[in-house]
Amino acid sequence: MPQRKLFVTTALPYANGRFHIGHIMEYIQADIWVRHQRMGGHMVHFVGADDAHGAPIMIAAEKAGKTPQQFVAEIAAGRKEYLDGFHIRFDNWHSTDSEENTSLAQQIYRDLKANGLIASRTIEQFFDPAKNMFLPDRFIKGECPNCHARDQYGDNCEVCSKVYSPTELIEPYSALSGAKPVLRSSEHFFFKLSDPRCLRFLTEWTASGAVQPEVLNKISEWLRPDDSGKTALGDWDISRDAPYFGIPIPDAPGKYFYVWLDAPVGYLASLKNHFDKGGAKAAGEPRSYEEFIADPAVEQVHFIGKDIITFHTLFWPAMLHFSGRKVPSKVFVHGFLTVNDGEKMSKSRGTGLDPLKYLSLGMNSEWLRYYLAAKLSGRNEDIDFNPDDFLARVNSDLVGKYVNIASRAVKFVPGGKLVGSFSAEQDRSTRLLDEIRNLYEGREYGKALREIMAYADAVNERFDGAAPWKLLKEGKQEEAALVCSECLEAFKVMTACLKPVLPQLAAQAEVFLQCAPLDWANAAKPLGAGHVVGKYEHLMQRVDARQLDALFEAPEAAGQQPSPRPSPAGGRGSEPGGEALAPQITIDDFVKIDLRIAKIVNCEAVEGSTKLLRLTLDVGEGRTRNVFSGIACAYKPEQLVGKLTVVVANLAPRKMKFGVSEGMVLAASHGDEKASPGIYVLEPSPGAQPGMRVR
Ligand code: 2FM
Ligand code: ZN
Repeated sequence: MPQRKLFVTTALPYANGRFHIGHIMEYIQADIWVRHQRMGGHMVHFVGADDAHGAPIMIAAEKAGKTPQQFVAEIAAGRKEYLDGFHIRFDNWHSTDSEENTSLAQQIYRDLKANGLIASRTIEQFFDPAKNMFLPDRFIKGECPNCHARDQYGDNCEVCSKVYSPTELIEPYSALSGAKPVLRSSEHFFFKLSDPRCLRFLTEWTASGAVQPEVLNKISEWLRPDDSGKTALGDWDISRDAPYFGIPIPDAPGKYFYVWLDAPVGYLASLKNHFDKGGAKAAGEPRSYEEFIADPAVEQVHFIGKDIITFHTLFWPAMLHFSGRKVPSKVFVHGFLTVNDGEKMSKSRGTGLDPLKYLSLGMNSEWLRYYLAAKLSGRNEDIDFNPDDFLARVNSDLVGKYVNIASRAVKFVPGGKLVGSFSAEQDRSTRLLDEIRNLYEGREYGKALREIMAYADAVNERFDGAAPWKLLKEGKQEEAALVCSECLEAFKVMTACLKPVLPQLAAQAEVFLQCAPLDWANAAKPLGAGHVVGKYEHLMQRVDARQLDALFEAPEAAGQQPSPRPSPAGGRGSEPGGEALAPQITIDDFVKIDLRIAKIVNCEAVEGSTKLLRLTLDVGEGRTRNVFSGIACAYKPEQLVGKLTVVVANLAPRKMKFGVSEGMVLAASHGDEKASPGIYVLEPSPGAQPGMRVR
């Protein structure tokens, strides 16, 4: 196959917060794919950037007493620690608040305008008279017109999930100043996606194989005409009024591009910056950015999450196509990452597994790469991080099956000098390499790792079956050396297979094997008889369960307990119920928690979760609440229906994978659930009524 030329990106993170585990998962997914391509000899330019513009960043900067530029620069300065820590090797990291992005975005706009695809019209919007600015939907709050929950955002209700426009909110107020917003009109610019040319192009492009089938299904909802022949593809409002942190719209004083117009242009801006700095040349690309991006053979590939599909599969390809540019070859969409069946790792609340804490605890970043890869597929389904599963996969599979082969086998190969031809195994390893390569290509990393581990099982069986330690006792050193040489050859093949996922481990293994850097072309060739491997140094530690305990320990508790693990049942008498008492609070702290009696009017299992039950609670409010509780291991739904219990009634609603949870049911459990299993839901004495406060 001729060398492919690839331009690969991941979604640009907003520059108003540090990376969370959702970002890291996406970058690892893309980084594995890029490393796989490079092992195939292809040229890849893999770039990222900060998504710097928009009202939320402008407002956050103002709150922090900084200019937006200072604010985003500080966030940008923190990126490297994460990327290096997890071996995510972008060729360039840039910013959408850059010269390249300004000129590219403005040129794309001019080209679209020249193509008759920009319109302007006057629209009415909420304006904050105190702040003297138009309010983005997210900064308008009020009562939900549907369920009447208070303090809901201007675009949708977090309690009942209803989508509406800000003008429908009851008693709206500005989340910035508290002022009552007023309606004011202003001229806005639109990208005319309703133009029949756009529909024609997008119908064709989306069906061209650029997106996964499940994504195509989703997009078709936008492109399919209804009975009256109309589609849901409306014109897209691309302008915002000053004050705004963004790129000025040419010939329109006081108007800026909406952040989502210039954000994807940031992909091109980062690529151009990479070329202009000489990075591409150093990687063997002689052409300029302009020549490279104009080459129809260059493949443009975007890795993104499923929450930003419309921007990347409708707006972005249309912007590119109708401004006369190359369109994306592939948009690879992944699902969300949850932790312990828990909250979606969304952009605003992704705090379940803190990547920096993971690194600071000395946890090996390749454990996480391996575990996430083991869960990832080519589909955009959600995946869950489960600590027990993590421990089992890393310790039993990665260390127990792969790493250990090398340490066990090398002992029986005198002087590390391989013997035998390895010809019997040659076919099998060539087949494995081909298969694994194809699986990486289709982002079926979980399947790839399962295949590799099945191969590792077979190698371990061969080793155990031959029992080289016995052969040695029987004086059959040569036979032992032969079997173990084959195991080391197999170890080399597995190292190549795992290399995109575990680049550092593979580099260490290459040093041990004394071989050239492995790639898809050389991996099938045996090291061969007479090849001398190096001294074995332990390649990877096992995960210690205490590290996982520490990782998920709430920040308040961190540093207070010398041991991250709760004491065993019946252990130290000073720790009732297996855990130390929480720090002292005052009565004022306690009254902040509103505990109420609740009647469990319904209870059911949650499809897709083994841990959660869905409870419908009557808390005496004239409506019911939906609460998820992690008690499925202790109760069958029918055991709870009709019972009274106690609920934390003023807990902020929490969006979970399975719906919104509007409170928390109280239950007792021992600090060390293994030593003393069981969960006991609290029940009040007879006579208590739903809604009564517990104090
Ligand atoms: O959703 C987000 O986090 C956006 N900052 C992604 C932008 S991707 C690209 F268009 F820049
Ligand atoms: Zn609502």
